[in-house]
Amino acid sequence: GRQWRGVIEEYRDRLPVGPDTPVVTLREGGTPLVPAQVLSERTGCEVHLKVEGANPTGSFKDRGMTMAITAAKEAGAKAVICASTGNTSASAAAYAVRAGMVCAVLVPTGKIALGKMGQALVHGARILEVEGNFDDCLTLARDLSDRYPVALVNSVNPVRIEGQKTAAFEIVDMLGDAPDIHVLPVGNAGNITAYWKGYREYAADGPATRTPRMWGFQAAGAAPIVRGEPVKEPSTIATAIRIGNPASWTQAERARDESGGLIEAVTDRQILASYRLLAAREGVFVEPASAASVAGLLKAADEGRVEPGQRIVCTVTGNGLKDPDWAVAGAPQPVRVPVDAEAAARRLELA
Ligand code: F0G
Repeated sequence: GRQWRGVIEEYRDRLPVGPDTPVVTLREGGTPLVPAQVLSERTGCEVHLKVEGANPTGSFKDRGMTMAITAAKEAGAKAVICASTGNTSASAAAYAVRAGMVCAVLVPTGKIALGKMGQALVHGARILEVEGNFDDCLTLARDLSDRYPVALVNSVNPVRIEGQKTAAFEIVDMLGDAPDIHVLPVGNAGNITAYWKGYREYAADGPATRTPRMWGFQAAGAAPIVRGEPVKEPSTIATAIRIGNPASWTQAERARDESGGLIEAVTDRQILASYRLLAAREGVFVEPASAASVAGLLKAADEGRVEPGQRIVCTVTGNGLKDPDWAVAGAPQPVRVPVDAEAAARRLELA
């Protein structure tokens, strides 16, 4: 039978690989584009969710990592390193296993979700908890890759962007053209850079007749691009995007400006409300950072800034299972019952 082959094989002609490149893949990509009924009603638009939590390690990072680890293997690297708020490290650790490489991971102490830490651990990464934030981790990772034989696989590595741009290809391939607006969370700003590159390439080469407006959303306590200056001590419950000095800052501004889009902030409260709405009303369980895209769309809609009738895609970047604390906190607790149908039925209000 046939199955999705992974982003390198599916989009080989648009990626920097040759016939002899040793492709390292977990068959990432090919993720669901799910019509969002409640969001469509709320906005008067046709809203779709690009569910990137359906990737092999549970986030969009796998698209970039198949390229980064493939390129590192082709170059003969024996070890890779990354700084991460959790998802990049989970992905790097898994793909490094496939490639037979050592994976070193630098994470901010106490600020990554348990599921992501578990992934890096179980895949056998060498993990250092750095006494600093993500931005400090990235500085350290760059320094180490400059001075030691270890390849950097953060999105400052341009092949990561190449892999991640395939998400835009998939959306156009599914919808028949680019949407009017593409909405996504912004942290280190690699993903908005990648989508914009993908959309531009497809518009230039024919598969799309146009490009979307790019709408990026940062968490209010970690919104350097919105503020116009680095944030020294970024703070948000959305730990994945707790970043004060994004590496792809300029590229993100270019995506915003060239597309006629925007980059704004959403509060943690708005993020959590959208996180709950996605799970309870759309049936899509994402991690908090992923809900920043939807929170931003709803904020703009509530302010009357979303013209009805448009086609909109929101990327939801990571799987809710990575960080279930927020699902459990504040939710009604399960009720304990004896093995008794009548008692159970009463509690379930069936009778
Ligand atoms: N959503 C999730 C779930 C993420 O993990 C990230 C970034 C983003 C959004 C933002 O994407 O950085 O390309 O703007 N996570 C990185 C990491 C920083 O280390 O896993 P971005």
